[in-house]
Amino acid sequence: MQAATTLDTAWIAIGTLDDIPVLGARVVETAHGPVAVFRNSADEVFALLDRCPHKGGPLSEGMVHGRLVTCPLHAWNIHLDKGEAKAPDVGCVPRFEVRQEGRDLYLNPEPQAQGA
Ligand code: FES
Repeated sequence: MQAATTLDTAWIAIGTLDDIPVLGARVVETAHGPVAVFRNSADEVFALLDRCPHKGGPLSEGMVHGRLVTCPLHAWNIHLDKGEAKAPDVGCVPRFEVRQEGRDLYLNPEPQAQGA
């Protein structure tokens, strides 16, 4: 996450940090599908497509711990900062960039390139 000094029109306002429960998520609809915006105990914010790379479970309903979310369906752990499943599981979910200005959050609705 990085501070934004200027916002181009691609970024969409998604509310404030206080709109996301600590260790939880809220869902933002985008043209690419639902995006889960997570907040961990350190108030770091991450955004991933709300579909587990295993069988499409709703990651937004998973348990956040550190920089991981545990999928509610079969308990895969997904790295919030990379979108990759934690080994030994293999898979990757698209991730999205979030910017924070004060407590206001903005989402880039275009998924980040893998490995970016
Ligand atoms: S759908 Fe997420 S672990 Fe199976």
